[in-house]
Amino acid sequence: MKAFNEETVLSVHHWTDRLFSFTTTRDTAFRFSNGHFVMIGLPVDGKPLLRAYSIASPNWEETLHFFSIKVPDGPLTSRLQHLQPGDKILVGRKPTGTLLVDYLNPGKRLYLFGTGTGLAPWLSIIQDPETYERYEKVILVHGCREVAELAYQDLFKSLPNHEFLGEIIGDKLIYCPTVTREPFERQGRITDLIEDGRLWNDFGLPALNPAEDRVMICGSPAMLRDLKKMLEDRGFAEGNTTKPGDFVIERAFAEQ
Ligand code: A2P
Repeated sequence: MKAFNEETVLSVHHWTDRLFSFTTTRDTAFRFSNGHFVMIGLPVDGKPLLRAYSIASPNWEETLHFFSIKVPDGPLTSRLQHLQPGDKILVGRKPTGTLLVDYLNPGKRLYLFGTGTGLAPWLSIIQDPETYERYEKVILVHGCREVAELAYQDLFKSLPNHEFLGEIIGDKLIYCPTVTREPFERQGRITDLIEDGRLWNDFGLPALNPAEDRVMICGSPAMLRDLKKMLEDRGFAEGNTTKPGDFVIERAFAEQ
């Protein structure tokens, strides 16, 4: 059996000169859990050149969506950024990953921490009705360098009015953007928001605690390391695909 499906690019959106996203067809037999990543890529010199990408669309959608950085000399993204509707792309047939609500202990609130393209898995998870069955509040925190990198504003605004998700989401979804390198209504790294309590005080929530809160983290290795330490210092235990915990982590897509 072949390892990849060949999908067709349906649309491409460029957010900034560093970020873009695209939608592709989806093989009808392709199944995944919300939060999973999959290998995607292009044939280069007759061989598939692949990278792991979080699937940014929910698993009930008929198409697949991906959110990507552009690295000028990155082997894959320097090519992917030129995608046009109608182009073909390889999508692996075995989605996997640790960012699944199944790998978390039961809890009251779900915090989703993402920096840069580490937002991608949350786009899938916040469009999954099951997320809202499990949690009273879902707090999506996106940390970026610049305001222009706060992608998907329209999605966050429209979700509460979505034709079937709207009622399920109600007032459960909280969007918390934060910017580090230019003025914005909320400034600082996610780690700063935890240190000074803005992460919960801004929304009238109780302080982050392992008895009630669950956390998923997706970002750079340094961001994962710092947040993992902060959570462990507060008594949170890490979960994985074999043992559920209070938080789970995964590296965001990065290409050198
Ligand atoms: P900063 O601007 O202070 O470096 P990048 O685009 O480099 O992946 O960064 C995305 C966002 O993640 C930026 O706002 C950046 O802040 C922030 N960031 C970088 N390192 C960390 C870290 N160790 N912990 C939390 N946030 C981080």
